[in-house]
Amino acid sequence: MLTGKITQGERMRADLCLLCHDASCSEQYPELDPARILRALYFDNRERALDLSLAVDPDAARLRRAEEACPIHLDLSGILEGIRKDRQKLEGTEGADQVDLSCDICGVPLENPFLLSSSVVGSNYEMCKKAFEMGWAGVCFKTICLMDIHEASPRFSAVRSSNGRWYGFKNIEQLSDHSLEENLDCFRQLKKEFPSKVILASIMGRDEEEWEILARKVTEAGADVIECNFSCPNMEAKGTGSDVGQDPDAVRRYVEAVRRGTNLPVLAKMTPNITDMRVPARAAIAGGADGIAAINTIKSITGVNLDTQVALPEVHGHTIIGGYSGMAVKPIALRFISELRSDELIRTHHISGMGGVLTWRDALEFILLGASSIQITTAVMEYGYRIIDDLTDGLRIYMAQRNYKSIKELIGIAGDSVVENDNLERDTVIFPMVNKELCIGCGRCFISCRDGGHQALIWDKDARRPKLNGKRCVGCLLCTQVCPEGAIGKSRRIRRAGKKE
Ligand SMILES: Cc1cc2nc3c(=O)[nH]c(=O)nc-3n(C[C@H](O)[C@H](O)[C@H](O)COP(=O)(O)O)c2cc1C
Repeated sequence: MLTGKITQGERMRADLCLLCHDASCSEQYPELDPARILRALYFDNRERALDLSLAVDPDAARLRRAEEACPIHLDLSGILEGIRKDRQKLEGTEGADQVDLSCDICGVPLENPFLLSSSVVGSNYEMCKKAFEMGWAGVCFKTICLMDIHEASPRFSAVRSSNGRWYGFKNIEQLSDHSLEENLDCFRQLKKEFPSKVILASIMGRDEEEWEILARKVTEAGADVIECNFSCPNMEAKGTGSDVGQDPDAVRRYVEAVRRGTNLPVLAKMTPNITDMRVPARAAIAGGADGIAAINTIKSITGVNLDTQVALPEVHGHTIIGGYSGMAVKPIALRFISELRSDELIRTHHISGMGGVLTWRDALEFILLGASSIQITTAVMEYGYRIIDDLTDGLRIYMAQRNYKSIKELIGIAGDSVVENDNLERDTVIFPMVNKELCIGCGRCFISCRDGGHQALIWDKDARRPKLNGKRCVGCLLCTQVCPEGAIGKSRRIRRAGKKE
């Protein structure tokens, strides 16, 4: 079964779309709504893109007007044609609308697994209200504290891929700079207006007394869950944030203090700036935490301004080592989720996963490795709350196609696929198989095999095609990773010469 993964060519065309606010293309052609189709493609929800593109028989003249209205004159008709070309190979979207995404966070019901993670994206009443109305199941509100917070300007630095998408994102921001009362008022108002949405109150104290006071106050203000921020790497106050997350004893003591102030479920949000997160996570559970949230941002320097020779983001000629998030951190976050899930004690507690989730595929990977809820910031900062449409829709389509009835059936089922290094089977090999029809003769596989592999591909200069020397090939499949056309398939798994059955 195909998972509707978009091809590199489609990706490149969809990636050109600027994802405009009030897109002019859709204003020109609202029945077709090209902006929605492109957004579905951009966020890897290819089945829906196909579905929407088939719903209207496009009128060439109106499509042309939509193309003219597009600020970069995207070839919309070419893109629509590209989407439709694979329709026979794709599973449909039937039944997706009926799929129920409801789940829970430590027993508190969630209408779907998606929450805004604690940050600027959920830092006041209006923002949370908008996000709730658009379909987010809840918010982990921007961390509140009893400290006086002063922020630097500017405070962000993005690492971009070639189309301008943020690949990774650094921030040097601390906690909410609104007063405690203002924030508690938001909780009260949101809870009154949106009783079924879930509010996680992220808190940070400087000592046990502050942790307990904050826990008590947010509980009284109507929060559903408390998340302890043991993980912000940007704190001015020494001995707070990620300093705590690296100290299992402090983690346990502060969770105990929070427990004294509340009877709500408590999550401990952990720092990835540590070798083994399971140690402080077990300490949090020993102190009374009901679950673990991971990951907060990774300590980073994203780059240096080569003109001023100052590291980024520049604040009066200086910067600090700040927190890295977004797409680039997903593999590191997944590793931590997998390790948390591998622990006998931690796995019996809620794991709220985050770090680089942009599409429903990313979210599903976290779920398959053991996360029961998903939190997101960076993708919302870049693309807005609207990403919730394709997150929920893509997940529903996947579940409908495979007949899953509940998110719970998916949680952790890929966990056992990650084994210890000495348990991986190393006696068989898979060889690459070049599909001569799909191959366009660019020779990228040849270059990589020659300079970064085992010199197993021979370049046929006249045919402009690679040929395999099976005697040299070790089956590393580097060639499949660089082929831009997906033209290199795989043989069946074969026992290595000299290895017994
Ligand atoms: C600008 C910004 C501000 C953040 N502020 C907080 C915060 O106040 N409390 C907190 O626990 N995490 C904070 N985070 C971390 C996020 O909640 C999240 O753990 C991290 O960014 C990884 O998820 P993402 O890749 O989806 O952004 C912040 C992240 C960013 C980018």
